[in-house]
Amino acid sequence: MTTSTTAPAAATPAPTHAAYFAFRDRLLGELRTTPLGDAELRDAGRLIYGAPENLSLYGIPAPRMAAAGIRLLGRTTIECCIDAYTAPVADALAEIQAAHHTGEPEPPGGEPPFVADLFCGSGNFGHHLGRRLGFPVHASELDPDVHDATRRNLDLIGSDIRLSQLDYRDLLGKLPPRSPRDTYAVEPPWGPAFTPAGLDLTRTSPPVPEVLGHIRASRAGMPCYVAVKTNDQLAHDSLDRSFAGSVHLRTVTPPPTLPRGANMDFHLYRLD
Ligand SMILES: C[S@@+](CC[C@H](N)C(=O)[O-])C[C@H]1O[C@@H](n2cnc3c(N)ncnc32)[C@H](O)[C@@H]1O
Repeated sequence: MTTSTTAPAAATPAPTHAAYFAFRDRLLGELRTTPLGDAELRDAGRLIYGAPENLSLYGIPAPRMAAAGIRLLGRTTIECCIDAYTAPVADALAEIQAAHHTGEPEPPGGEPPFVADLFCGSGNFGHHLGRRLGFPVHASELDPDVHDATRRNLDLIGSDIRLSQLDYRDLLGKLPPRSPRDTYAVEPPWGPAFTPAGLDLTRTSPPVPEVLGHIRASRAGMPCYVAVKTNDQLAHDSLDRSFAGSVHLRTVTPPPTLPRGANMDFHLYRLD
């Protein structure tokens, strides 16, 4: 297993874990569909990632988001994948794909491989994957409030991500396989899958094994890549069980800033 670390800026002072969990509850509760203001965005950076500027999306750190017109809802603020996490994941995937596919003939029809960000949220995962791999990005987001905020943010930054307000299965239905380099970002909401015992990927909403089944069914046997985000405390061997029959390529582990169970890991797989 290869591990990559990208250190966020230093934390001063360290937030208490109780403050983090209380803020997390507010983001997923009363502030769930509320766009955060400047002070709340800075608090989010400090409490979740150790410093206001460590909450950064599309290359824009939290202290500049309000002035830049970025709209981040409470739920997306806690659910999103920040720049310091997604950029190394995209680098790792680019390296893996270069090693596996250099010299391969282009697919017939001249259509480039794609990135599909199935559970788009802020769109920052697809944003980094698409830019680094040089592939067009298709994204689905079911929640109309999240969709509208992200649509506006992507327009503000001049992104050409093709975002639709859709269930991920409908996006899969519109995306026939193009290349063995096609890459899917899979990050469904955790909801009841996240307990003190750890994160159970078979209980996310929808369950990760079900999402992988729908991806496979859409591919007509053509392999592809999958990037999945988890926390750092997995329950019931659920990562291995979800990806049974797939090839684990790499795990990218950002430096922890929170208690065990609240930090992020990213796993790259090849689905054959
Ligand atoms: C954990 S967040 C993803 C965060 C994202 N990776 C980011 O960087 O911001 C999951 C998102 O998936 C959306 N979602 C939930 N069920 C969905 C479905 N069936 N199809 C598409 N999107 C869905 C939720 O509304 C939520 O915004």
